[in-house]
Amino acid sequence: MNLDKIIEKTNFYPKNILLLGAADGIGQAISKILINSNANLKIYITSREKNNNTSRIKYYQLEATEESDWLKFIKILDKEKIKFDLIINTIGILHDEENKIIPEKSIKNFNANSFIQNVKVNTLVTALCIKYMTDYFSKNNKVILASLTARLGSISDNNIGGWISYRASKAAQHMIIKTASIEIKRTNNKMIIVGLHPGTVETKLSKPYLKSASKIFDTNESAEKLLEVIYNLSNTDTGNIYDYSGRIIPY
Ligand SMILES: NC(=O)c1ccc[n+]([C@@H]2O[C@H](COP(=O)([O-])OP(=O)(O)OC[C@H]3O[C@@H](n4cnc5c(N)ncnc54)[C@H](OP(=O)(O)O)[C@@H]3O)[C@@H](O)[C@H]2O)c1
Repeated sequence: MNLDKIIEKTNFYPKNILLLGAADGIGQAISKILINSNANLKIYITSREKNNNTSRIKYYQLEATEESDWLKFIKILDKEKIKFDLIINTIGILHDEENKIIPEKSIKNFNANSFIQNVKVNTLVTALCIKYMTDYFSKNNKVILASLTARLGSISDNNIGGWISYRASKAAQHMIIKTASIEIKRTNNKMIIVGLHPGTVETKLSKPYLKSASKIFDTNESAEKLLEVIYNLSNTDTGNIYDYSGRIIPY
């Protein structure tokens, strides 16, 4: 569904939107949909790389695995007096051949460096994002922090095994989301914190592993579905993990 129709239907009007890691992949597709909406949204994107601002996007350089970089980032937000209504964390890792990070077929292939890197990018970034960004939300009635995750992080839905580091880092990401949501609900019941599974999507993250997939989305299809799920969230949904169709994924 077109974003303007979703906005009309859901009555949710986030103005300032921050996308983490959106210079590429699903995050970039989300940014394109937001820009093309009639809602006159302000889009902010973080990336490890330096990107030039455009008329519609303000870029910040952020190595989101580094706490020191978050401290620098919030100083900029203080200086520029920016608060967000919606934050979507699209940062994630599955493989990085250059650094010998390859999803394991067996526990025999388990490798400490690969495990730590998965946890750093998939789990730690989510925790640091929640830690630093909860004070940078507007006072609107509904504000949302959504973090992209994967169905593979569901412990109860794990029937085939494999990819142990990625699965473990995503399961831990779910625990961070659930635990933080319980705490934050006590002081701010307007804030919704969720995890979102985008489906199998053709990006550089999934490219080497698409052969066995039964259904593959392009980035725009997945981004549209994710935005529809996000805009339809209500305050009682905080702490949950959803797939691209809005169905809850069990922990
Ligand atoms: N594609 C799929 O089929 C699929 C399926 C299930 C779940 N997901 C999840 O969806 C999310 C987005 O995935 P995607 O497919 O869009 O992947 P992608 O195209 O590889 O984009 C992921 C983003 O993460 C950032 N990133 C990658 N490695 C990093 C590192 N070492 N340190 C810090 N940032 C790093 C990059 O941002 P910068 O380079 O701009 O900093 C990159 O733009 C991930 O959490 C992934 O697990 C994807």
